[in-house]
Amino acid sequence: MCGIVGILSNNEVTPTILKVLKKLEYRGYDSAGIATIFNNKIKRQRAKGKIENLIKQIHRNDLPGNIGIGHTRWATHGVPSKDNAHPHQKGSVVGVHNGIIENFRELKEELLIKGYQFSSETDTEVIVQLCSYYIDQGISNKDAFLKTIDRLEGAFALCFMFDDDDKNLFISKRGAPLVIGFGKNEVYIGSDAVSLTSLIESVIFLDENDWAIVSKNEILIFDQKGNKVQRQKKIVELNNDIISKGNYHHFMLKEIHEQPEVFGYATSGFIDYKLQKINMLNEVKELHGINKIILVGCGTAYYACAVAKYWLEKFVKISVEIDVASEFRYRETYFTKKEYAIFVSQSGETADTLAALRKAKGKVKKIISIVNVTESSIARESDFVLPIKAGPEIGVASTKAFTNQLAVLACLTIKFANIKGLLSDKKNSELIDSLISIPGVISDILSNSKKFQDFAKKLVLSSNVLFLGRGILYPLALEAALKLKEISYIHAEGYPSGELKHGPIALIDSNMPVICFAPYNELFEKTISNVEEVLARNGNILLITDEEGFDLLPTNQFPVIKLPKISNFIQPIIYAIPSQLIAYYTGLYKGTDIDQPRNLAKSVTVE
Ligand code: F6R
Repeated sequence: MCGIVGILSNNEVTPTILKVLKKLEYRGYDSAGIATIFNNKIKRQRAKGKIENLIKQIHRNDLPGNIGIGHTRWATHGVPSKDNAHPHQKGSVVGVHNGIIENFRELKEELLIKGYQFSSETDTEVIVQLCSYYIDQGISNKDAFLKTIDRLEGAFALCFMFDDDDKNLFISKRGAPLVIGFGKNEVYIGSDAVSLTSLIESVIFLDENDWAIVSKNEILIFDQKGNKVQRQKKIVELNNDIISKGNYHHFMLKEIHEQPEVFGYATSGFIDYKLQKINMLNEVKELHGINKIILVGCGTAYYACAVAKYWLEKFVKISVEIDVASEFRYRETYFTKKEYAIFVSQSGETADTLAALRKAKGKVKKIISIVNVTESSIARESDFVLPIKAGPEIGVASTKAFTNQLAVLACLTIKFANIKGLLSDKKNSELIDSLISIPGVISDILSNSKKFQDFAKKLVLSSNVLFLGRGILYPLALEAALKLKEISYIHAEGYPSGELKHGPIALIDSNMPVICFAPYNELFEKTISNVEEVLARNGNILLITDEEGFDLLPTNQFPVIKLPKISNFIQPIIYAIPSQLIAYYTGLYKGTDIDQPRNLAKSVTVE
């Protein structure tokens, strides 16, 4: 949610700020802005809409200076508009902010009474005006900045500048990500390290409540109590190619096609091929004291949890509770210290998931996180971190992160089942072999996308689409519906097939496509009888099955996609690919903004 950048250089900073903003655009893209300092004056440009609009608006020499800050916004307080765009400025102070200030109304009230006037509806302008108020009291920039952050409640990452100081950036992090990056002759501030790749050689990830004064020659970092602290500098290993679209038109399609490779990264970290065993959480020797596993995430990550529930209950024979983080964090929950709580998050920064983790901390036996960003807040606050190794996911809709989350959850299932002695050697090898087969199966499916394009063409003119699945394919129906909604803006619902007759069947007519996931498994016959119910009501069925299921289909009255024969265990992973491709091509034919769908942002760091 919102991307922020700051640069200190010997050269003009505006062109580089714009480049970094483009890379941060996945975090929000409803307005953007830049400010620089030149000759003790703040220069500022802001525009509604994407970074392209800002680029078009800036003329040569509009924003000179060797120090500057930039922002790309995902609206929380106030509509997307130029007035609400960051940076916000008051007097000598200019700043950018990511997060939500919960007490901004009280602070604004206080400033209004003092005669301050506001030009935006944002909470950010309140922070800037508050800082300016302290400056007006005659204190130093540093003290004003400190007094300001002291007054703030909520989550924020801030980067501020003052017009009489073109040497220092003032930053602060609480509940929102912020890094300091080091190039050859420049220092950078960014919402993430990925957006700074190719510019930096090393990076410092700030801790919660850190604040810092950053200049080209010196980085002064302080903790909340004002003690000077050292934070470890890490070498950046990311390569710039990873975050370009390569030969693909969209990041989403590139990331879909990366799955065979990155799935292998996820599993090879955990599978000991020689011994045919899972090498993870080796500290966990027994599960006797554990009577429940709690799995929490948001959106697609939550659906990964929902799949894992089926796996864990079946193979580990343990009770599993799943919840979306925004509910879990406020629900009255009963903990017994005999639970493992697992938090799944691609970004590792999702505000609700982080709050849910903090709620469980100290009340459950251990906290495990499954994340893509191993330096993230969620990872840092967990007892054990299981990385999914999907590489940067830039497309706003999650694709490869989902399948890699499932890869790690599948390994975890095998590991826990083994700890409990519930898997024979034969079954253990069978499960591991099926995971090893996945990259090949995904490549196979991806090599023939024509049939998914044909399916997508049938959806383009629909206003509603229903996805059906049973058992472990039910969460896939939910995930497929989410993907279609966000990419094509077509209303879609995922339903358990058996639940159809309890209400949604009333919606069935020839205008509403019903996409049914029907792999051959123990529920195949039941799923097909649900399909018959839809057909009997003139429903418009599109079916996805495998070779075995295809041979058993009772009629050929509807379009079918036939996937390769695969083991039951990996069916939910494989069926993610059709869900992604159908959503992608439907969006493509509708002409939507696939990588940056309206109203969304990649990393939801606000509640
Ligand atoms: C959907 C999607 C979102 C995220 C959700 C959680 O395609 O990407 O639903 O899955 O916002 O994000 P993370 O995994 O970063 O916690």
